[in-house]
Amino acid sequence: MPRNLKNPVSKDELSEIIAGLNQSPKMISPKYFYDEQGSRLFEQICELPEYYLTRTEIDIMQSCMDEMSARIGKQARVIEYGIGSGLKTRILLEGLDDPVAFIPIDISPEHLAEASRELAQRFPHIEILPVAADFTRPVLIPETKRKSLRNLVYFPGSTIGNFEPDAALELLRVMRQEAGPGGALLIGTDLKKDPQIIEPAYNDSHGVTAQFNLNMLRHLNRKFDSDFNLQHYRHHATYDEQSGRVEMHLISEDDQQVTLGEHQFSIANGEKIITEYCHKFSPEDFRELASCAGFCHVNSWTDLNHWFSIQLFECH
Ligand code: TRP
Repeated sequence: MPRNLKNPVSKDELSEIIAGLNQSPKMISPKYFYDEQGSRLFEQICELPEYYLTRTEIDIMQSCMDEMSARIGKQARVIEYGIGSGLKTRILLEGLDDPVAFIPIDISPEHLAEASRELAQRFPHIEILPVAADFTRPVLIPETKRKSLRNLVYFPGSTIGNFEPDAALELLRVMRQEAGPGGALLIGTDLKKDPQIIEPAYNDSHGVTAQFNLNMLRHLNRKFDSDFNLQHYRHHATYDEQSGRVEMHLISEDDQQVTLGEHQFSIANGEKIITEYCHKFSPEDFRELASCAGFCHVNSWTDLNHWFSIQLFECH
């Protein structure tokens, strides 16, 4: 079957990639991490000893769920942006008081279908309505059978930190719209801390993060028929305390050419392609950002080390 029939490439996507590769420094959107293999590698990252984020966030969810649930109230319609391995979602759906529906939005249809199937088995009384879409663009949220008392947008994993500040604000505004009057946002953010704790989380000793980063090029090659040579790039990630973010790069190990459709790009030896930022926040920074998007702060929960924070907001 012609590849494009199975996997249509939109003009927007193509021009976004081309614009990024024409930029200096070059950039590729992190959403291209997540093909089926990328989602699987990401799940492996979450289980790495160095990757403290997932473990810590799960601990907070487990120990504070009763309090979160009391603040959120009964019969919420839960909309999750992106879906991970499902453990956090399970804790949330188990801990909430009679949630009426669960609507996960994820860019990887295979991953979404599998996670939704598992959730439907575990929670037969909750309506599960998966939406396969890029959540950085407006998404049509399906109607639910039962009426809810409020919408709860759930955005765990410090994924908000993967957006540049303007884009993060824009996305929070979209979530604010989605949550609607009386709605709420439950969001996980990684906190600023000693670089010696942050850096190993993105440079694990097993090289899983490196594979995850490089897999993006394999995904592009398949989706856009490009010819990135994976052997000629290496993973690089550092935390810059000044900007409070980790930068993930792919560094070219040669002078090389890449062809993408009718376009050609030269990449010099040592040149970087930025694949992702992972911003870290102080609790105050984040409250400020959320408030600019129209959310008011209700409560925050953190771990004993103050490494990670889960915050609950309501729409003004
Ligand atoms: N948002 C998380 C973080 O910033 C998870 C994540 C996204 C991630 N992309 C990643 C982790 C790339 C490692 C590598 O950490």
